[in-house]
Amino acid sequence: MIRLLITGAAGFIGSHTSLLLLEKGYEIIAIDSYINSSPKTYKKIIEILNSKGQNFANKLKIVKGDLRNIETIKKIFNEAYLDKKPIEGVIHFAGLKAVGESVENPIRYWDYNFISAFNLVSTMREFKCKYLVFSSSATIYGVENKGLLKENSKINPSNPYGNTKDAIEIFLKDVFQSNKNKLQIANLRYFNPVGAHPSGLIGEDPKGIPNNIFPIITRVSVGKIGNLNVFGNDWPTRDGTGIRDYIHVMDLAEGHIKTLEVLMKNETEIINLNLGTGIGTSVLELIETFKLVNKVNIPYKFVPRREGDIAEIIADNSYAKKLLNWIPTKNINDMCKDGFNWQLKNPEGFG
Ligand code: NAD
Ligand code: WQD
Repeated sequence: MIRLLITGAAGFIGSHTSLLLLEKGYEIIAIDSYINSSPKTYKKIIEILNSKGQNFANKLKIVKGDLRNIETIKKIFNEAYLDKKPIEGVIHFAGLKAVGESVENPIRYWDYNFISAFNLVSTMREFKCKYLVFSSSATIYGVENKGLLKENSKINPSNPYGNTKDAIEIFLKDVFQSNKNKLQIANLRYFNPVGAHPSGLIGEDPKGIPNNIFPIITRVSVGKIGNLNVFGNDWPTRDGTGIRDYIHVMDLAEGHIKTLEVLMKNETEIINLNLGTGIGTSVLELIETFKLVNKVNIPYKFVPRREGDIAEIIADNSYAKKLLNWIPTKNINDMCKDGFNWQLKNPEGFG
């Protein structure tokens, strides 16, 4: 099995993907600065692996570090090279993701997101590391698109966070063009990742007040937040509330591993892939499902629309399904059940 570097491995999507990689026998070096996560995540990952009797000794190396410092990255690659176990691929999750904060502080977002990617890719080239899977986002698509979003739908991000993701995709394309046969790249454009590992040992634990609806709902469900503000009931949708394509984080994790396998099989490639379910759920449907499957109350009230929101975003995921031989297996009930289980078992998150 090849050795991988996982950046942002302690974060929400990075932790679930790291767990799955270890379960499948990959050897990983996990780097995170813990700016939006906790090192306790790794203890939980190890607990899950132990409970399955899996021997992962020496398969997980943990590094605390910030990718904005290129020397930190070079040191990791160099040590792996000297160890005669070079890093052959990278899954790059690390980054900041709060849209509103990016509008207030764009410099911070370009620093954390773009500079980190730039440092990482420069170092990958220096050490002849070939495979890169990058966490892009459906946020790069323009709000003027209609219907299901395809990979070739218009790209026109509307906030600095989205601009950094778009810029990284452009940067990766340039690097790929000049390094054919030396780099294989996949940009994974996630829709709305939610849910948690079914064990309830790892899940989403953003620092501070969450921005996204799902961690707000789970916190409301355990009384950590009083009620949910629903942003608008006058959208041109079936019930007047916003529709999104929620995808279970374990399906997303599986998508990363299948992507990596496709990259490793193919000669030379840069691919863009939508990772979503292709199914839209409105805010009211999400609340009702959460209440029903978990038998909890979610108090909510309608407030005006949030600036920058749009009525509906749903993936056309046919390319990912075909290319990766991947299919999301978990529905909105599973997402609500697993998200609640995580929050119930960890009302303070990782503490
Ligand atoms: P997350 O905040 O839980 O995880 C990101 C991790 O990266 C955190 O653990 C954070 O501490 C770490 N990090 C940030 N900057 C770093 C740096 N310079 N050096 C080292 N570590 C750093 O977020 P997530 O939900 O797991 O998202 C992972 C990736 O997917 C992000 O790049 C995000 O932009 C992208 N994405 C997320 C969503 C979503 O809704 N969750 C949707 C689309 C795309
Ligand atoms: C979902 C729906 C809101 C909060 C964001 C980023 C995107 C991607 C995923 C990273 C919308 C409604 C929300 C609340 C609400 N992240 N809502 N009350 O806006 O689709 O996407 O996260 O790449 O880039 O923009 O997700 O969870 O914020 O909102 O009514 O308190 O829930 O209006 O309809 P969004 P979200």
